Amino acid sequence: MGWKTLDDMDLRGKRVLVRVDINVPVENGRVTDDTRIRRIVPTVHDILEKGGKPILLAHFGRPKGKRVQDLSLLVVKPALEAALARKVVLAETLEAAETGTDEIKAADVVLLENIRFYPGETANDPDFAQRLAGLGDIYCNDAFSAAHRAHASTEALARLLPACAGRLMQAELSALEAALAKPERPVGAVVGGAKVSTKIELLENLVNRLDLLVIGGGMANTFLAAMGAQLGKSLSEPNFYGTAKDIMAQADKAGCRVLLPVDGLVAREFAAGADHEVIQLGPDTVLDIDQMVLDAGPNTVELVKDAFAGLKTLIWNGPMGAFEIAPFDTGTVAAAQEAAQLTRDGALISVAGGGDTVAALNQAGAADDFTYISTAGGAFLEWMEGKTLPGVAALGG
Ligand code: 3PG
Repeated sequence: MGWKTLDDMDLRGKRVLVRVDINVPVENGRVTDDTRIRRIVPTVHDILEKGGKPILLAHFGRPKGKRVQDLSLLVVKPALEAALARKVVLAETLEAAETGTDEIKAADVVLLENIRFYPGETANDPDFAQRLAGLGDIYCNDAFSAAHRAHASTEALARLLPACAGRLMQAELSALEAALAKPERPVGAVVGGAKVSTKIELLENLVNRLDLLVIGGGMANTFLAAMGAQLGKSLSEPNFYGTAKDIMAQADKAGCRVLLPVDGLVAREFAAGADHEVIQLGPDTVLDIDQMVLDAGPNTVELVKDAFAGLKTLIWNGPMGAFEIAPFDTGTVAAAQEAAQLTRDGALISVAGGGDTVAALNQAGAADDFTYISTAGGAFLEWMEGKTLPGVAALGG
């Protein structure tokens, strides 16, 4: 790790520009999941304890360089204040932050309004970054989940001020390194979700680094169909049959065992409690034209559990079936609970992240037992694809 941490910085009396990711889900004006907010608390408290003044930089949604009232961070402020157990003052404009109203000057913690209201942010504009730099003495990046974006507050700014990683950034990077860069072997992954097309680079990178790859969810249909299965109206991507075959060949060459479903829960409609049956799956499977595979079947789950038992490290990304609708959450829930149990027993290091993953693990009641749950969606995937994240690179890591 080449980057500095808060321990390396003298924060006394310093204005610390902290890039955080509080891009959280909101419904009817209320935050529905404050995980990302809670996870930045140690960094903010640490800065305060060390005598610094945190000035938080954050985005919310994608306002495309314009002031969009619905995307004001005002809606997130109460949840942030609750998590920090102190008042936060919102600087509504860059000018207000620059001039410093009495309230801003007196505040312990300042939150700058949605940084993406300014076009210079996503453009990674050097002049805009210079303006931001004028607001602080030190830069601290605690937004791993936004580090795949080369934006002014995640990238350019790190080069203009003495820079360090925040506590959450540190935790994310060490957990991900432990899972993929230097894992305890054997190491495996569950990669699920709907489409192969969104995860090609992920699968290609993983088969070259892992001992086991469990492919689940809709994307498993594409692999099975590529081998000859006719899966009715199951979600599948015919344009990616070639890609699926290439990935299987690469895995074979690299000595990575790929575990595809050997059976599935098959229904004729995608609805809660829909009539369904267990059908064996393989290259010779022929489903009716109106049938679809919606979840991994019991034999698949047993195979997955057996495979987990041989692992020391497990990476989890994506659900193994249509987990939003019962009973098609059964495979994901059973496999996730097994991973949680092995982790509790001290037999497994389990790291999860990306997209729907955390929701699926929460549904399984397994999230709390995982060794580490990343707050990142796209950044988790890009890291697992082996890409350099601009926000991490700019810290000198
Ligand atoms: C996320 O929600 O994954 C991050 O906050 C990044 O958001 P973005 O995809 O809009 O850049």
